[in-house]
Amino acid sequence: MKNNIIVTGGAGFIGSNFILETLDSSNSNIPDLVINLDCLTYAGNPENLASLKDNARYTFTKGSITDQTLVTSLFIEYQPRAIIHFAAESHVDRSIRDSSDFIETNIVGTYRLLESARQYYDHLNKEDKAQFRFLHISTDEVYGTLNAHDVPFSEKNKYEPNSPYSASKASSDHLVRAWHHTYHLPTLITNCSNNYGPYQFPEKLIPLCIFNALTNKSIPIYGDGKQIRDWLYVKDHCKAIQSVLLRGKIGETYNVGGLNEKTNLEVVHAICHILDELKPKINKESYVKQIQFIQDRPGHDKRYAIDAAKIQTDLGWKPETSFEIGLRQTVIWYLEHQDWVNHIVTGEYQHWIKKHYS
Ligand code: NAD
Ligand code: DAU
Repeated sequence: MKNNIIVTGGAGFIGSNFILETLDSSNSNIPDLVINLDCLTYAGNPENLASLKDNARYTFTKGSITDQTLVTSLFIEYQPRAIIHFAAESHVDRSIRDSSDFIETNIVGTYRLLESARQYYDHLNKEDKAQFRFLHISTDEVYGTLNAHDVPFSEKNKYEPNSPYSASKASSDHLVRAWHHTYHLPTLITNCSNNYGPYQFPEKLIPLCIFNALTNKSIPIYGDGKQIRDWLYVKDHCKAIQSVLLRGKIGETYNVGGLNEKTNLEVVHAICHILDELKPKINKESYVKQIQFIQDRPGHDKRYAIDAAKIQTDLGWKPETSFEIGLRQTVIWYLEHQDWVNHIVTGEYQHWIKKHYS
C-alpha cells in the first residue's frame, strides 16, 4: 500500500476544497498522491483545481464511480491508503424533478465503490489492512426534519429521509454500514450540515443569492423563508474530515455541524447587507429589494441542526469560523471570482434556472 488517497467527486464544491486543503503545505499529513476521480457532471469543475496544474502530488481521472472496472483499476494502480467518497448528485430540487441520476450515482455508484474497495482490501496484508480507510461523506438530511424545539440531530437519531436526494444518501449510508458489518471493510461515515464557501455551484441558496443580487435578478425564497439550516464553513468541514480520517474509530459515524442555525431569510438578508456595504448600487437601493417569495419546495424540511458533541469530544474537532466571518469571506470570494462564476453559468445552468424558477 502507498501513501496515496483516492478522492471521488473532487471537482465539486466540497471535494475541491478538500483536495486544496489536503495538498496545502500547512497540512501535516500530505499524501504522496491525490487521485481525483470525477466524471464532471454539470457540478464538476476542474477549474477549481487549476492551481494544482503543476503539482506532482495531484492527478485527475475523468470517469464515473459507477464504472467498476475503472474504479478497480485505480485501486490496483495506485494502492491507496484511503478513499474519500464525495461524488454524488447533491441538489435536492433536482432530485425532486428527476431522481434517476441520484439513484444511479448515490446508490449504485456507492455500491460499486464499496465492492472495488472490498476486493482491494481483501488482498492487503495485515499491516495495510489496519491502515486502510473508506470514508463516506454524507448529509444531515438523512435524519429528516426537526421542529423548532427539538434537540439537534445526534448520531443516534433514526433515519427519516424526506426527499429523493436524502433517501438516496440514506441508502448509501446503509450500504457503507453493511459493508463494514458484513465484510469488515474499515469504513467511516460523516453526516454534515449545509456547507458554504468558495467554489459552490450557484444553484444552492448562498451562491445563487449572491449571483442573482449582482446580476439584478430576483432572489427567490421558497415559502415563508423561515426554514432553518445549520451553516458550516467548508474549510471547517474539510478539517473535520481530516480528523475523522486520522483518528476516527472504524465503523463509526460522526455528525459535523457549524453551530450556526439561521433561517433562510436571515441568510439572504445578511448577504444583501454585506453586498450593500461592499458593492453598493448606484441608486443606493438595498439588494434586499430583490428578494421575492416564491412557491415552496415540495416536502421542504423545516429545520436541520447538528449535535456535534461526539466529534468534539472524541476527536477534538469543532467549527472555528463564525457565520458572520465565513459569510463575509464567501461574499468577498465571489466578488473576486466573477470569472469563475461566469465560466460555469453555462447553457445547462440557464436551462435549469429557466425550468425550475419560471
Ligand atoms: P457537488 O454537487 O458540488 O459535487 C459533486 C461532484 O461529484 C461533482 O464534481 C460531480 O462531477 C461529481 N460526480 C457526480 N456524479 C459522479 C459520478 N457518477 N462519478 C464521479 N463523479 C461524480 O457536491 P458537494 O456539495 O461538493 O457535495 C459533496 C458530497 O457532500 C456529496 O456526497 C453530498 O451529498 C455531501 N454533502 C454536501 C453538503 C453541502 O452542503 N454541499 C452537505 C452535506 C453533505
Ligand atoms: O443539509 C445538508 C444539505 O444541504 C446537503 O446534503 C445538500 O447536498 C445541499 O444541497 C444542502 O441542501 P439544502 O436543500 O438545504 O440546500 P439549498 O442550498 O438547496 O437550500 C438551502 C435552503 O434554502 C433550503 O431551505 C431551501 C432554500 N432555498 C433554496 C434555493 C436554491 C430557497 O429558499 N430558494 C432557493 O432558490
